[in-house]
Amino acid sequence: MAAVKELKKTSYQVNENGYYGKFGGAYIPEMLYPNIEELRENYLQIMQDPSFQAAFHQLLKDYVGRPTPLYFANRLSEKFGAKIYLKREDLCHTGAHKVNNTIGQILLARQLNKKFIIAETGAGQHGVATATVCALMGMECKVFMGALDMERQKPNVERMRILGAEVIPAVSGNQTLKDATNEAMRYWINYPVDSHYIIGSVVGPHPYPDMVARFQSVVSAEIRQQLLEQTGTEQPDYVIACVGGGSNAAGAYYHFLDEPDVKLIAAEAAGHGITSGESAATTALGRIGILHGSKTLLMQTDDGQVVEPYSISAGLDYPGIGPLHAHLYDTGRATFYSITDDEAMDAGILLSRLEGIIPAIESAHALGALHYMDLKPEDVVVISLSGRGDKDLETYIKWGKY
Ligand SMILES: Cc1ncc(COP(=O)(O)O)c(C=O)c1O
Repeated sequence: MAAVKELKKTSYQVNENGYYGKFGGAYIPEMLYPNIEELRENYLQIMQDPSFQAAFHQLLKDYVGRPTPLYFANRLSEKFGAKIYLKREDLCHTGAHKVNNTIGQILLARQLNKKFIIAETGAGQHGVATATVCALMGMECKVFMGALDMERQKPNVERMRILGAEVIPAVSGNQTLKDATNEAMRYWINYPVDSHYIIGSVVGPHPYPDMVARFQSVVSAEIRQQLLEQTGTEQPDYVIACVGGGSNAAGAYYHFLDEPDVKLIAAEAAGHGITSGESAATTALGRIGILHGSKTLLMQTDDGQVVEPYSISAGLDYPGIGPLHAHLYDTGRATFYSITDDEAMDAGILLSRLEGIIPAIESAHALGALHYMDLKPEDVVVISLSGRGDKDLETYIKWGKY
């Protein structure tokens, strides 16, 4: 299902108060104010420093394996009647785009003289990416993870432990990403001085959404360059990405935000269907509210209680989206499709059979959007293949239809 809106003229960059249109800001408890303020005052200056940029890009190249390929998917293109390219974030070290951000944030935490790292994780990819960079830099790491997600993503739990991180189960709510984020924030409030909280998506109080989007923007910088080399033009007709909190989408969209000819397509998780009561289809069902420190669209009851989300994919099982994406939706700049579990699983198997690539179930939602689009043979489509399916093998096996 798609929601198409008329495009409004606006800026898609965060303003000086931390807002994207009416979304964003920093709604935080008093105790966290010094940390967030320290970050806000310093993040741009640190990130723009040439020596920081050099260290960041060196690690992205030699440690993460960037640039990731932009792969022309021949058989997938034939099937959908357009020129489809896959941005292979699944080939990043640790298996997903999440590491682009954790490399950036750990370098930043060191600049701020922080002693240990806190993180939350849903699918475990961000937790693994955080545990990885903490091992790399010799920093202590505590990862909060919903108890249900720990069950669904066992291999990633063990990977984090092997890397030396402490994985702390979140047992509140429905024991998924929202609850892990709540508990990580609670912990941070108790240890605010020496710790840095590495948020894994473009969510949370300002400046996190902007900071994470900037670290992930390397993805669209590479897409432009690679498209130019492969097709002679830097602009695709469409960029498609799944949206949990929205970091892979923000990275894939970033350098196209102000180019309306490049259509931005977002796939959110419809779970068992948007009217089933079991979904994470935030734009289809959400209203404006405050979640994890920012004003954004979120799924909530009439009296403002957060609705428990559901998706087969742990990384999309979140009741909100980042404020940038709420703004992209609100202004009509991005078109959102709600993709069900079944549609995503079918798309994951299709890619496996057509291209020999088993995608993460999160990324399979982005592929699922292809069925809803009216594509022409000359259309150039870039899909953010945000992660690999290894972590999801048990879910594929349980689903069974292959
Ligand atoms: C492979 C993969 N893709 C996408 C996501 C969703 O996160 P985001 O929307 O921040 O990219 C996750 C989250 O864990 C993930 O592991």
